[in-house]
Amino acid sequence: MKRISAFAVLTAAMLFMLCACGKTEMEQNTGSQTGSTSEGAENMVNTKDTGTAGIADNSETKETKALENIAENFVLIPGGTFQMGSPETENWRSEDETQHTVTVSDFYMSVYELTQAEYQEIMEENPSTFSGSDLPVENVSWLDAIRYCNARSEKEGFEPAYTIEGQTVIWNRGADGYRLPTEAEWEYACRAGTVTPFNTETSISAEEANYYGHYPYEIEGNYFSQENLTTKPGQYRQTTVAVNSFSPNAWGLYNMHGNVGEWVWDYYGDYGAEPLTDPIGAETGTLRVYRGGGWNDFAKNMRSAYRATMAEDKGSFNIGIRLVRGIAGGSKSVASTGTQNAADGDGKVLIAFFSWGGNTKGIAEEIQSQTGADLFEIELVNPYSNDYNTVLDEAQRDQNEQARPELANHVEDMEEYDIIILGYPNWWASIPMPIASFLEEYDFTGKTIIPFCSHGGGRFGQSLTAISKLAPDAVMGEALSVHYSGGSGLPDDVEEWLRTNGIIE
Ligand SMILES: Cc1cc2nc3c(=O)[nH]c(=O)nc-3n(C[C@H](O)[C@H](O)[C@H](O)COP(=O)(O)O)c2cc1C
Repeated sequence: MKRISAFAVLTAAMLFMLCACGKTEMEQNTGSQTGSTSEGAENMVNTKDTGTAGIADNSETKETKALENIAENFVLIPGGTFQMGSPETENWRSEDETQHTVTVSDFYMSVYELTQAEYQEIMEENPSTFSGSDLPVENVSWLDAIRYCNARSEKEGFEPAYTIEGQTVIWNRGADGYRLPTEAEWEYACRAGTVTPFNTETSISAEEANYYGHYPYEIEGNYFSQENLTTKPGQYRQTTVAVNSFSPNAWGLYNMHGNVGEWVWDYYGDYGAEPLTDPIGAETGTLRVYRGGGWNDFAKNMRSAYRATMAEDKGSFNIGIRLVRGIAGGSKSVASTGTQNAADGDGKVLIAFFSWGGNTKGIAEEIQSQTGADLFEIELVNPYSNDYNTVLDEAQRDQNEQARPELANHVEDMEEYDIIILGYPNWWASIPMPIASFLEEYDFTGKTIIPFCSHGGGRFGQSLTAISKLAPDAVMGEALSVHYSGGSGLPDDVEEWLRTNGIIE
């Protein structure tokens, strides 16, 4: 038996308290968040202004076509060769991080995430959840980011990098305008020559990045023995912070870890183990990659190699944009046609959920009372312990092993359902593994999955990425995160969310 310190018990109680009160937050609801610019500003550790465009100090420079009129806050990232992905010894790596040799050409990258002021100036709107001109723009979809790139290129007299034709986006790789980095460019720039889990070496503290600071790297295995941690738990700011906060990496780039995740060009897919030059990701797909982790992510999900995914027409309060310019690999055009069709709400609905303490069950029952849909509770052959401290360990073990707990019950007629409203508690910043067992049991091709997640402060964590990877052929609806049981506001919040998804009129 592990010795449980008073601090750990207090932390556990404070963080995951299974209290009955709470409030709900819809991911896309711009009005319901609590963060503020001043709170972010207070937390700024380094507000150094890099001012003019610089040159990253990387000796492996390759030739590139010179670009004109580089914006002040862009830095030249000289091309080079690096190991993309994570070594098998890296804790909390995923199988999709296969290490392989990648060479990238020179490109220019913004040292900052794109601010709300920059987005507003071009698009004349600001979709962000947190409000502040020097905060990163968030709640933008991949398609919004592509549109922004083109609009700014046009305004500044550059050739737009993209042609947008309905659901098809063509990247003209010869164009000199603004664009998103490729996944390889992003990781190369983030690492800035490092081979460790973070560009700050083996761990990263809440004084070095804006993330869910209660959960530094390796906390999972040391939850009850925090004295073993290199980096101790720190502040969880619960908001984005100014884009020039903290120290930059070795190549002058700020907030590559944390604050907001950053969209990249690539479709999510297996990137293989072969050496590649200027790779551009999978040829087809349904999900786009975003990188770097955000203000509400655990450190393990901010690692340089961690790959997060979301449909290209969805945004989130923890995903933003970092621009690059550069002409990689000549003038070849690359087309993509992967936008998922939005759910229209028609069809038979199933509410499937897993709940350990009852909060998710209560939310599922509220959804059931408003929709009349069928209700299915996911149960286990070997249920988790009823003891809170024990289930923390069990859940962490299952996640680390990517276990697939055996399910005790099954949906007999899954083919009859078109829409699956899928509920679960946030466990260690992701889904409980029984949800993975459930998602792997059925074919969700052509179906819509609408997730809802009960949490203790971490909102969805990386659960939406986990679901996307497990059911890549399903259309994802707008997700709902509910703080614990949702409290008295639950019925209204559920109603609004069901309406947004077209489930009720
Ligand atoms: C094993 C375990 C891990 C948890 N991990 C997180 C977490 O990473 N982030 C978070 O916000 N809440 C976390 N919580 C809190 C639960 O998400 C929250 O209490 C939720 O309301 C529980 O739902 P349930 O009653 O349906 O099980 C965790 C709870 C447990 C038991």
